[in-house]
Amino acid sequence: MKDMTDRSPPVRVGIVGYGHLGQFLVERIQKEGLEVGLGLAFVWNRNADKLSGSVPNDLVLTELSDFTHKNADVIVEVCHPQIVKDFGGRFLSHAHFLVGSPSALSDSQLNEELRLIAKQHGHTLYVPSGALWGGQDIQRLNDSGLLRALSVRMSKHPSCFRLAGNLRSDWSEREGRRVIFHGSVAELCPVAPNNVNTMAAAAIAASTLGFSGVTGEIVSDTALADYHLVEVEVTGSDGFSVKTVRRNPAKLGAVTGSATYSSFWSSLLVCKGHGGRVYLC
Ligand SMILES: NC(=O)c1ccc[n+]([C@@H]2O[C@H](COP(=O)([O-])OP(=O)(O)OC[C@H]3O[C@@H](n4cnc5c(N)ncnc54)[C@H](O)[C@@H]3O)[C@@H](O)[C@H]2O)c1
Repeated sequence: MKDMTDRSPPVRVGIVGYGHLGQFLVERIQKEGLEVGLGLAFVWNRNADKLSGSVPNDLVLTELSDFTHKNADVIVEVCHPQIVKDFGGRFLSHAHFLVGSPSALSDSQLNEELRLIAKQHGHTLYVPSGALWGGQDIQRLNDSGLLRALSVRMSKHPSCFRLAGNLRSDWSEREGRRVIFHGSVAELCPVAPNNVNTMAAAAIAASTLGFSGVTGEIVSDTALADYHLVEVEVTGSDGFSVKTVRRNPAKLGAVTGSATYSSFWSSLLVCKGHGGRVYLC
């Protein structure tokens, strides 16, 4: 809850993408924004018709490249990694940027470019921790030079995966557990862009290992009808290790667990400026 004596104007938020997460964020800013110091600057969606009736006309942005006219303090991408690639640099040169599809940063050139632009303009590239537990602890271990290995396993019911190329396959309700992929997060991001945001956040926190040094595994399990499992294993020096198992309640067929929505909202509340750097929130 915002301190009532704090009279600073609301942080102006631009939302890019009006799918599940975009709609959730827009509705919550409209309902609770003033209380927590947030206001809407604009909402953009590829198909603007989807916004009519729910977003006031003066907040609808028709051409994304006109975002500079809306003076957003923070721009939130909840759309697709391609938009991060095409617009991330431009967003960051005008505002803080909360990247909802951090899997885009598996492209090392884009990763470096965004870090550089953040530094040059003094804007923060925010990475939401999403379904990752302990991200800031991983980052701390990383920054003190003590992180040796990191692996993240994501297990879901097969109806919850959106996979590209030859990873896509038929499944039957009785098949049980099946490892779909095991390898580096760098290799996994392009083939499972909607399922690796948590792993991408982990790889960004573990910058000394990077996307190619962090291990990712995705497992299909027909027993997981009510929740997704996210398991993180951290290895430090001198025998240090941490294992966490997170159960993320999720409806059948949902790519995103329910707890991830409120986690995303908490992440947005943090985006008030942390200088020209990458910040896990
Ligand atoms: N960081 C996290 O923890 C986390 C959690 C959930 C989802 N995500 C990511 O956030 C993004 C949005 O998630 P969602 O659940 O709201 O998805 P969604 O599919 O419900 O919505 C995506 C929206 O973007 C639009 N879109 C898709 N591809 C596009 C493109 N190439 N160009 C322009 N518009 C495009 C769709 O039409 C839709 O309106 C996805 O990339 C997803 O992977 C991240």
